[in-house]
Amino acid sequence: MMAIRTSKDTASDDERAAEPLPLAAVVIAAGQGKRMHSERAKVLHEIGGRALVEHVLAALAPLRPDPAVVVVGHQAERVRQLLGDKVTTVLQKDQLGTGHAVLQAKGALRGFDGDILVLCGDVPLLRAETLMELVEAHRSSDAKATVLSVRVEDPSGYGRIVRGAGEGQLRIVEDADASDEEQHIDEINTGTYCFDAAFLFRELSRLGRENAQREYYLTDLVEVASRRFAATCLMLEDEDEAMGINTRADLARAESVLQDRLIAHWLESGVTFLDPATAFLSAGTIIGAETVIGPYVRLDGTTVIGKGCVFEGASHLRDTRVGDGALLRWGVVADSARIGSEAKIGPFAHLRPEADLGEQVHIGNFVEVKKSRVGARTKANHLAYIGDADVGKDSNLGAGLITCNYDGLDKHRTVIGDRVQIGSDTQLVAPVRLGDDSYIAAGSTITKDVEPGSLAYNDKPQRTRAGWVAGFRARAQGAAKARSGAAPTHGAAKTGGKKKKG
Ligand code: UD1
Ligand code: CA
Repeated sequence: MMAIRTSKDTASDDERAAEPLPLAAVVIAAGQGKRMHSERAKVLHEIGGRALVEHVLAALAPLRPDPAVVVVGHQAERVRQLLGDKVTTVLQKDQLGTGHAVLQAKGALRGFDGDILVLCGDVPLLRAETLMELVEAHRSSDAKATVLSVRVEDPSGYGRIVRGAGEGQLRIVEDADASDEEQHIDEINTGTYCFDAAFLFRELSRLGRENAQREYYLTDLVEVASRRFAATCLMLEDEDEAMGINTRADLARAESVLQDRLIAHWLESGVTFLDPATAFLSAGTIIGAETVIGPYVRLDGTTVIGKGCVFEGASHLRDTRVGDGALLRWGVVADSARIGSEAKIGPFAHLRPEADLGEQVHIGNFVEVKKSRVGARTKANHLAYIGDADVGKDSNLGAGLITCNYDGLDKHRTVIGDRVQIGSDTQLVAPVRLGDDSYIAAGSTITKDVEPGSLAYNDKPQRTRAGWVAGFRARAQGAAKARSGAAPTHGAAKTGGKKKKG
């Protein structure tokens, strides 16, 4: 990673050179985001399963700004709750503009003397490397303000970078204030800056709001710095990185850029995607090398996939851990589950929270597991519900097994030992325990504990009537003939009906 250094830094002794220059950050995230037409504050909207403002903080993290201050306002409590105590938050009570927002951080940065990165909470795709370059560009010039710009295909909505001739001629004009001629400028302000701390807070308190939106524009400081001191501009190459999210359409575009990035990252690290266009990942997902991801796979939250796994496709995993070498056949839905290494899951299986499957477990079609531990090599291959259970290893749970865990008031646990053999269509009425090496006959309803090594079954005597079928068919055919003989006209049907009744 690039070292942050300044041309002004002439210290020759090693200790000082190693000491990072003081850097703070302010992320402005108080706006409502009217153009989103949402109940939710804009910076709480997500891409890659993470709030926009979290992406901004993640890009900042490697620079270790101290302090990092987030300006909150609209839905301040929800934003604070999301961020926890990782950062300092300050409140902007009324949203009077981006300049006014940054000014709210003045108290939190009292006594700080260094450079301050200012970022918008709604510009989520910036990379840490870019922010480092911005800081370096700022420090290697005499500028009091350095702005990050980029050329874009469609500049509408953004502030435009206006470069005049000579010194002191850099400024930003907002979309709403731009002349016809300025509207055509395609170099825009990304809303990302590096300021000298003293300059920033001194000039912020002098800002006016004589503009189209009657707001205190942070962007005005670029012109102030340019006139009185110096201002510079660093131009980004990648237009996508600078994308600001103002509308749902912007959000969808940013999501697709992020998805491309995430998939490129995992391809690079040895994961195969059979159809990258239909895989959908979260920023928090980790995938081991040699894993193959089939079409229509969505990995959410903090899902961690081991090495050499195979996902046939059409699966959705959230906050789930998958061990090495697991096979997930078509159609697995898992939420907060753990799948052991070399397990085989699906097709069409449902793992609900706290499903904890050991290595080489088989969970087959139409099997649901919830809040249950299933020991190594145990199999439930067809049509079963395993809820609130502790299942040992090497057991076989037959087709149609149901743990009856709920009595309408409380949930109860089922305990199944090791090497237990459960016949098809069995109900285990919890609380109940099946000892190690026990056998349960098919079609049993088990309400009492079964000792280790025992066979349990219900007495349901089978009766057989020899020759019954022939008689049954004859009766059925006779009845059918009688019906068709009285072929119903409208009236006849009525009479027929009456006849039957009588
Ligand atoms: C802003 C810039 C524009 C730039 C664009 C980049 C200004 C005046 N304009 O415009 O030059 O091209 O970002 O995306 O700065 N916010 C507050 N408090 C407020 C107002 C805004 O915290 O009172 C926050 C918002 O939550 C948001 C960010 O500041 O995260 C940007 O605000 P927004 O209204 O989206 O500004 P833009 O019109 O996009
Ligand atoms: Ca914006």
